[in-house]
Amino acid sequence: MTCVKFARASAPAKVMLFGEHFVVYGCPAILGSIDKRVSVTAKQSESAKINISSNMGFLASYSSESLEKPGPQFSEAQNTLYPIYAAVHDVLKDHFEVDGRHHGVEIDIKSDIPWGAGLGSSAASCVASVGAVKSLFLKPEKEWVYSRALGAERIIHENSSGADCNISTFGGLIYYIKDTRNKKISSKAELSLVVLITYIKHSTGSQVSFVKNFRNQNRSLFNDLASRATRVCDKAVSALRSGDVIKLGELMNENHMLLKDLGVSNDEINDLIRFCLDNGATGAKLTGAGGGGSVVALLSNENQTSFIRKMGKKGLRQSFPVRIGSYGLLIE
Ligand code: PMV
Repeated sequence: MTCVKFARASAPAKVMLFGEHFVVYGCPAILGSIDKRVSVTAKQSESAKINISSNMGFLASYSSESLEKPGPQFSEAQNTLYPIYAAVHDVLKDHFEVDGRHHGVEIDIKSDIPWGAGLGSSAASCVASVGAVKSLFLKPEKEWVYSRALGAERIIHENSSGADCNISTFGGLIYYIKDTRNKKISSKAELSLVVLITYIKHSTGSQVSFVKNFRNQNRSLFNDLASRATRVCDKAVSALRSGDVIKLGELMNENHMLLKDLGVSNDEINDLIRFCLDNGATGAKLTGAGGGGSVVALLSNENQTSFIRKMGKKGLRQSFPVRIGSYGLLIE
């Protein structure tokens, strides 16, 4: 077994175009990797510690010997970075058995993905960390990285659909159903998309729990929304294949209404969506878990530049165009 001191991997963020939340309950979703990435450097160290630092301002240290459990003793950084720690610990564990000794690692995360914005930064960090740490020992298969990163995500969000880890590992534009293989979609049109970020950071876990309670209390309404979301998603596949961006925009609007009925939107998201539609977007919806986070808007190619200018003039929010379909996990 080769064993190197230093390895690096990167993985992309994502936008969910259709199906968030419903995907947790077996409905389909459509999502694409975007041209924002997280890059992780892993270095072996002599100490039995997993130290993680991130350019998002987080710095945390954990034991590499036994998996620490989160609790009141944890700092905010330790809580935030916990899925990455869990993923890295799991990878190192395999090598304790081989080598019979404890390795420590230093993980350095450089991300240009806004944190807590519904763009899959946590999943991308897990995927890139698993990829980098495993590469200290041998070059991993993508399937393997995906399953390990998902396992770690599920320690925190036990119902996670796996969509974020999947797209971040494999990249592209995909039709995804929980616990099945994803299907690549080829879009006839080049999608001109803009992401607008609200000032409210969200917690995926609390949004998913909110929906779980909603579902428990309103089972038949939830089932109705879920079957409508499934139909919207299936129609969106046809619109993508035929390059019908007007139809695709309408379907995004329809999907947003379903998310609103589910209770995961809020005034700030709805105001941003109104701004997008008033300024020429063919469709706009929240993307990710909602309750804050981001909005994704579909524009016609001609009005992308003027749309960004209008956003800038308003000076209210961060916004940036995104290109769909960038490559997934890259081991450098
Ligand atoms: O906001 P994000 O990037 O964490 O997206 C979560 C997507 C959900 O559908 C709400 C949850 C899931 O497990 O798919």
